[in-house]
Amino acid sequence: QVLFHLGEMVTATASVADEVLELLGSEMNYNVQVVSPEEEDRELLDSFDISFGEDLGDEEDLEVRPPVVTIMGHVDHGKTRLLDTIRKTNVRETEAGGITQAIGAYQVETELDGEKRLITFIDTPGHEAFTAMRARGAKATDIAVIVVAADDGVMPQTVEAINHAQAADVPIVVAVNKIDVEGANPAKVRQQLTEYGLVAEEYGGDTMFVDISAKQGTNIDQLLEAILLTADATLDLRANPNMPAQGIAIEAHLDRGRGPVATVLVQRGTLRVGDSIVAGDAAGRVRRMLDEHGDDVTEALPSRPVQVIGFTSVPGAGDTFLVVDEDRVARQIADRRRARERNAELAQRRKRVSLEDLDAA
Ligand code: GTP
Ligand code: MG
Repeated sequence: QVLFHLGEMVTATASVADEVLELLGSEMNYNVQVVSPEEEDRELLDSFDISFGEDLGDEEDLEVRPPVVTIMGHVDHGKTRLLDTIRKTNVRETEAGGITQAIGAYQVETELDGEKRLITFIDTPGHEAFTAMRARGAKATDIAVIVVAADDGVMPQTVEAINHAQAADVPIVVAVNKIDVEGANPAKVRQQLTEYGLVAEEYGGDTMFVDISAKQGTNIDQLLEAILLTADATLDLRANPNMPAQGIAIEAHLDRGRGPVATVLVQRGTLRVGDSIVAGDAAGRVRRMLDEHGDDVTEALPSRPVQVIGFTSVPGAGDTFLVVDEDRVARQIADRRRARERNAELAQRRKRVSLEDLDAA
């Protein structure tokens, strides 16, 4: 009735916009607080006394962790080939049509100043995963490697990738690829990128550019070095391995034999076989963990990507995961989240139906 008086055409079962609710509240002397799904989820975790996100525990527990690197760039500029070359394996050949189908995540070992160092790579299919994760407030990447083919130059998705990285405040290393191709013009790429605020060190800027050939394996070590130097110069990458593991599910699917399989990136804590885990609205217990070679591992430290087997349903890409004390807690969190999703969907549907009713009337 009040809304009708305010000129809002609503039925008793209609969903209304946040502003309308606030208006209704002020009209009826109620203080309406609109709670975002993120806040609601935080309240849910609070009720289980779980801290998620920024809380890293004691300073003395922090240990250096490897940088997590996302390779982005225009279609066909060589992202997958580069990753293959870095791993010296060949995922690319096994991909349907040579186009990245799912996110792969791998850790490689390299050396800087005689010291062994790890780098974690995430191969994104386009930018969807990156965007999905950012939309959920999860930050998976420390450094973005933007691959630009020197025979093609800066293209629309190159610019998109740069925008994503800059919006997420992630430092960029530029890999100028395909320098083996006739007509390749790495200087032009440098020139083009100045327009987007990426000025090469040799031109007085502070972005590292490395000319590479993913195909011939040229300058790959230099690229890895540039990644580590950029990490050391601009980031303080530390995490607490002594807490229940938390992180992000970067890819998940239903495997015929093994059930739900999720590739997760551990961001803090140590993930162990036997842990009770919840990712989005999927709960489970870590039955097995596999590394990038398909070998079983029993624990995963911060920045480590692993495949987890043991979820009872498939988590969403970009869902955050956390380890909890018991299976029961994991299940309860998952159930509550699922119920919330279902309510939101029902509200959407009701809204549609009542609008149709109005149309009909
Ligand atoms: P999408 O996943 O579809 O976005 O493509 P991508 O960026 O992963 O490109 P991909 O690695 O599949 O490479 C595209 C094509 O370029 C393939 O035929 C590669 O063999 C070729 N290619 C990649 N790097 C090089 C290079 O350094 N030199 C030459 N000559 N060819 C390359
Ligand atoms: Mg690819």
